[in-house]
Amino acid sequence: MSEYILEAKDVSFAYPGCTKALDNICVKIEKGKKIVFLGENGAGKSTLFLHFNGILTPQKGKLFFKNQEMKYDNKSLMNLRKSVGIVFQDPDTQLFSANVCQEVSFGPLNLGLCVEETKKCVDTALESTGINDLRNKPTHFLSYGQKKRVTIASIIAMNPEAIIFDEPTTYLDPKHKEQIIDFLEELNQKGTTIILSTHDVNVAYSWADTIVVMKNGKVLKEGTPDVIFNNDELIEKANLKKPLILEIYNELKNNGILPENHRPPRTKNELKQLINNHNIIKNLP
Ligand SMILES: Nc1ncnc2c1ncn2[C@@H]1O[C@H](COP(=O)(O)OP(=O)(O)O)[C@@H](O)[C@H]1O
Ligand SMILES: [Mg+2]
Repeated sequence: MSEYILEAKDVSFAYPGCTKALDNICVKIEKGKKIVFLGENGAGKSTLFLHFNGILTPQKGKLFFKNQEMKYDNKSLMNLRKSVGIVFQDPDTQLFSANVCQEVSFGPLNLGLCVEETKKCVDTALESTGINDLRNKPTHFLSYGQKKRVTIASIIAMNPEAIIFDEPTTYLDPKHKEQIIDFLEELNQKGTTIILSTHDVNVAYSWADTIVVMKNGKVLKEGTPDVIFNNDELIEKANLKKPLILEIYNELKNNGILPENHRPPRTKNELKQLINNHNIIKNLP
């Protein structure tokens, strides 16, 4: 049976003087999975993420962490945030320490770890995000991409069971974008549940286990990448685009070059393999 780490049940929320940011949201996050939230600006993704971490409280409905209804006293929140970390979209809203090492140490120290244990967590976090050489740098001198990696290190130093990444690849150059996605994959392989929002349909298609599509504070649809991106009506309604790999595959299939009865490829390698297997182009490198 599936084990759920987070659940929103009929959750509604409106900011003061604003229309509803969340409108009766029902969604369950399965433990150990990679869940991607897609939706245009203003769909409600960030607002929902702030509910998952207990920063916002619902005006209607309930949130559950490991099947227990969330409570909002200091002790419960501390417990929740130990297990569910959030990396905000803008690193400047998250960073507050003078240098990188202090920033990444804050979480573990705040959780009550001793100096020795904190050092271990910090070293691992700096190493795995590739910013060991930045450890003594003042945070305000870092580039956007470096700041982003510091915020990620500061969260993984606490070893949470689930991490929420709000648009982790926005404004990153292609190389760092790929590095972040590879790194999220590694985290997931170690058992961390990864929840992220993105506008990158290619990443969502090739990487997610489950995709949740949102619009106007509502969940339009939840499903596997195949189900989501083969639903043209949904793609149009949510203002999404088809992933490039799927577009190429559909072109080849519709022109009779590839067979109909094949599972659509999800990655560049799967597409290449399919092309090679059907001898369309000899030996694509
Ligand atoms: N701090 C805020 N104060 C007032 N309204 C907000 C605030 N943050 C978001 N909103 C509004 O809530 C709705 C949902 O926004 P948000 O959760 O940020 O969506 P997304 O992350 O999908 O872009 C939007 O209409 C947005 O304008
Ligand atoms: Mg947002």
